[in-house]
Amino acid sequence: MLHLTFRQLSVFEAVSRNLSFSRAAQELHLTQPAVSMQIKQLEENVGTSLFEQLGKKIYLTEAGHELYHYSRVIAQQLNEAEAVLSELKGLKRGKLKISVASTANYFAPQLLATFTQRFPTVTVSLDVTNRQALLLQLANNEMDMAVMGQPPDGLNLVAESFMENPLVVIAPVHHALTRKKAIPLARLADETFLMREEGSGTRIAMERYFETHGIKIQSGMEMSSTEAIKQAVQAGLGLGVVSLNTVELELEAKRLKVLDVEGLPIRRHWYIVHRKDKRLSASAQAFKNFLLDEAATLMGAART
Ligand code: PGA
Repeated sequence: MLHLTFRQLSVFEAVSRNLSFSRAAQELHLTQPAVSMQIKQLEENVGTSLFEQLGKKIYLTEAGHELYHYSRVIAQQLNEAEAVLSELKGLKRGKLKISVASTANYFAPQLLATFTQRFPTVTVSLDVTNRQALLLQLANNEMDMAVMGQPPDGLNLVAESFMENPLVVIAPVHHALTRKKAIPLARLADETFLMREEGSGTRIAMERYFETHGIKIQSGMEMSSTEAIKQAVQAGLGLGVVSLNTVELELEAKRLKVLDVEGLPIRRHWYIVHRKDKRLSASAQAFKNFLLDEAATLMGAART
């Protein structure tokens, strides 16, 4: 039977995550000697050393790595318990932690604005990142829910689609192809495409689509945001594939055009995704229901 306290475990979790006694101390509002003392007592309690020091850096020992894994799971479970209890106590100080794929950044804040008007006591934190980082966050149970394009197979996730996410080819307004109707897909092989970064869902979907249709596109510059792609297309650096949700303003202002290509848009959806083992808090459940029931209508998009 291990003799350790939650306090020691949470100090240990912070030191391990930061790999620094001083950063952990800052985070926990403790002095550094207080942190060292907790770790020393913990090491005595478990009967083995958890860190080793090489030069100025500290590293987890093998035992430290093992305990770190459990300390994170326990910390997350305690957070969930805290959220559930505070809602049961009627405190309604709900917290909602969501992460969205960078492309979803074009509509997520607008939806959150309506949601928080309706649930003003819920504090929302929003992280914007790409698909690959989202999958890692889900695997580590670091947030309540994620909004992403195609959810992965094989992970233990619940994913429900709430809105269409059509991918279109954009071109500068004076590009010769903007005057053509029903452009054959194969014609795009003559054009250079600006590419999103590795790990982007848009990029994966685009590459897969061209590949299944036997088209070899020419890739030009690689850029890590839709915003950069839109600017580069306007500047004439090539064509781009982006979600239609992200170019409304440019289309309206006639700064970009969507090409009329046979078979396009690439049909995709936005999904609200969470781990199957996640006990959704009332705020998380309310947000999920809100997306499923109203997001598409609010954004003027199709549901399926
Ligand atoms: P992303 O978008 O390209 O910003 O990662 C996510 C997705 O469409 O899957």
